[in-house]
Amino acid sequence: MVLGMELRDAVLERVKRPALRVLHASPAGEAAILRVYLEGEEHAERAVLLDTERLAAPDWLARWLVKHRADEARHAEMLKARIAELTGKPAMATGKMDPVSRWKMRRLEAIARRAAPRFRHGLLVPLLATAWRMERMGVRVFARHVEVLEGKETPTLPMLRKILRDEKKHVAACEWALARLVSSQEWNDLQRLVLQIDRVERAFGVLGAVILFTMGALLWLGSSTSRSLTPAAT
Ligand SMILES: [Fe+2]
Ligand SMILES: [Fe+2]
Repeated sequence: MVLGMELRDAVLERVKRPALRVLHASPAGEAAILRVYLEGEEHAERAVLLDTERLAAPDWLARWLVKHRADEARHAEMLKARIAELTGKPAMATGKMDPVSRWKMRRLEAIARRAAPRFRHGLLVPLLATAWRMERMGVRVFARHVEVLEGKETPTLPMLRKILRDEKKHVAACEWALARLVSSQEWNDLQRLVLQIDRVERAFGVLGAVILFTMGALLWLGSSTSRSLTPAAT
């Protein structure tokens, strides 16, 4: 089982890196992938977890969440600015989630609600656990992208490095908060919950690879047809 998953992850990695390289071959490709990130950042910013009013979060956590939310908003602004630079047009936020992300969020929310009664701090714990696993996924995604761009002269690289640094802090903060909120008797329940969350994330990861690959393939097709057509047209 574990070996199967490792193999699958290795295959996904093999798909994602070349797909990223293809996307970086043109400003349109680069803007396309940054738009995917922008959507992610905007969801992160709006995520219910960051809605401190609705959750009875202790003061120390509420203070951190305000900072966390500001980080995600800043990431979205940085991405928008870079997309505008690449395309010459302002990057518009779509404001709505794609159907697959919606499916994922609904699944995660159902898991969180079911798990909530098992914890002394209620819904706050499963929501933090969800955020923790999502932030970890963010770290993986940005770390991979930074690695692919390493050594290249593009303003996208320092920007992604900055975002990556923050996402790592978000992971650490979620871990720290969970350690404070979850008692030793609740620890097994947390482990079980994390496995459930990760299953949903993994299903989504396969799709993410497919989307990246398709985007790369479409762009590559587009650029090779325009290359072969241009000389004939001129
Ligand atoms: Fe972020
Ligand atoms: Fe984050």
